[in-house]
Amino acid sequence: MDNSTNKMKIVMLVGSLRRQSLNRQLAEEAGKLLEDEAECTIFTPAGIPLFDQDTEFPAPEQIETIRQAIRQSDGVWIFSPEYNGAIPGGLKNLLDWLSRPLFENDPDWKDTAVWGKKATISGIGGNNATRSVQDALITLLHFMGMDVMTEDRAMIAMSPETMKTSDLSKTENVQKALRTQADAFMKFIEK
Ligand SMILES: Cc1cc2nc3c(=O)[nH]c(=O)nc-3n(C[C@H](O)[C@H](O)[C@H](O)COP(=O)(O)O)c2cc1C
Repeated sequence: MDNSTNKMKIVMLVGSLRRQSLNRQLAEEAGKLLEDEAECTIFTPAGIPLFDQDTEFPAPEQIETIRQAIRQSDGVWIFSPEYNGAIPGGLKNLLDWLSRPLFENDPDWKDTAVWGKKATISGIGGNNATRSVQDALITLLHFMGMDVMTEDRAMIAMSPETMKTSDLSKTENVQKALRTQADAFMKFIEK
């Protein structure tokens, strides 16, 4: 919570690098819906080096920035497409970085930016509506010690028109699904 504005702070991680990413558009819509309640910051895996245990300390600047934003946040909201029924490589790589301790030789392996953080997941994709990637993310985030809201997740199958144009507004009921999830996530964070 930002005490100066009484707004929550939400970090949004988007699993797609694509310029016209529908999942990024979904994150931006959620940010607009939360405008009065939360300050949302979007990050993508763009430019993040492949995780390598030999060179993880000091972490790259981008990772430090995302870790700091998450530590100061009230929750993390992931928006991801499904790649071959699984987590896109760039997002998995980013989450592997976030799962690691903040300091070298830290004896407390729970001393990460994400341990205990509240999290939720949304996604837009093909007919499977990102069901498989969301299941995989729930398992992964639990493994990373995150407190995951498993109810009320937006799982959206894009309309044929959206598939052709990459225009999120051509798919129905997006706002409704995001509103439900945003309200539920605010309550989940407060409880
Ligand atoms: C490598 C790759 C694999 C994909 N695999 C799936 C899949 O398993 N299930 C699915 O619904 N859509 C799949 N898609 C289609 C994506 O859902 C679609 O491209 C979506 O728009 C990607 O999200 P974005 O718009 O946020 O980039 C795949 C796309 C790519 C590029």
